[in-house]
Amino acid sequence: MSANGPSLPLPVRIAGTGSYLPERVLSNGELEKMVETSDEWIAARTGIRERRIAAEGEFTSHMASEAARRALEQSGVPASEIELIIVATITPDTLTPATACYVQQQIGALRAVAFDVSAACSGFLYAMELARHAVGAGAFRNALIVGAEKLSAFVDWSDRNTCVLFGDGAGAAVLVPSTNGGGRILATTLGTDGAQAELLNIPGGGSACPAPPGGAAPRPAVLAMQGREVFKHAVNAMRQAAIDGIAAAGLDIGDIDLIIPHQANLRIIDAIVERLDFRRENVFINLDRYGNTSAAAVAIALDEANRQGRVAPGDRILLVAFGAGLTWASAVVEW
Ligand code: UT7
Repeated sequence: MSANGPSLPLPVRIAGTGSYLPERVLSNGELEKMVETSDEWIAARTGIRERRIAAEGEFTSHMASEAARRALEQSGVPASEIELIIVATITPDTLTPATACYVQQQIGALRAVAFDVSAACSGFLYAMELARHAVGAGAFRNALIVGAEKLSAFVDWSDRNTCVLFGDGAGAAVLVPSTNGGGRILATTLGTDGAQAELLNIPGGGSACPAPPGGAAPRPAVLAMQGREVFKHAVNAMRQAAIDGIAAAGLDIGDIDLIIPHQANLRIIDAIVERLDFRRENVFINLDRYGNTSAAAVAIALDEANRQGRVAPGDRILLVAFGAGLTWASAVVEW
């Protein structure tokens, strides 16, 4: 279930990162007025204090494009020279075309081939793996990868089991060949278990739930999750993905300088870090401010770690994620 094929002709590095969070902050206190919940429950069970909510008329593609512009600016690669755009999202602007097509237009990357990947919270690392192979094989000179979500549009705001968990936002990275011996992506692992697809899904809006004949309202597309079951799988799968990724990179856990995990639940992160016997202060956490932004979470955290100076050249970073599918993924990056 892991994929770390043969070594590529060209090593690939991350040349720039960017992120975008919508302005509107939704606090736990405000949620107390919407559903039967409390700041104490949400903070104790998840670690989340607040999340961002996209404005009306602000779509996944708009957030993706803003994060992309910031990553491009840092990388020094102009949008017009980008050859490949992969957007990871489960909350596309439209079922078709892909959100990546809107991003291509919005940022003016008119030469780029653009498509989406749907791998939920692991999506950004799935996109990284695809882009790494595309650039590392020499098929594309560079790639822009984005994780972006407007989960607020797919949450049932009357369901306290889910509505307190999710938020909106986007993160991006530009991948280029590592020609000067600088940083590079050392290894990645990916995994999928479709047998557990029912644990976390958005059933409405797909071909399995077409609009009923006679003009009746179609089933709304809202997120459903069996939280406790997902929690157990998340801890086991992310722990194993971390171990596999580090081994594939030829490293030990002691060689890792920073872990950037998927930001779903602080208790999940704590359980993994404890099982890996890793230093908690070297784990990047921002879920208190943004909640779970699915495919955007690792991408936003990577950009914040980068811009806050939490990573230095030569540092080894472990990115690890888990989500609906079920899917999981890890990447070990030498900065
Ligand atoms: O991003 C992709 C992967 N997603 C995840 O990794 C999420 C994984 N799951 C989780 O993070 C946790 O399971 C949750 C945060 C979703 C839930 O925490 P939990 O400790 O597993 O709680 P629970 O679902 O077992 O519910 C415990 C109690 C229940 O009440 P009873 O049955 O014990 O009376 C729930 O009804 O807490 C209740 N509850 C709430 N109470 C106040 C559930 N949601 C809320 C709420 N406020 N928002």
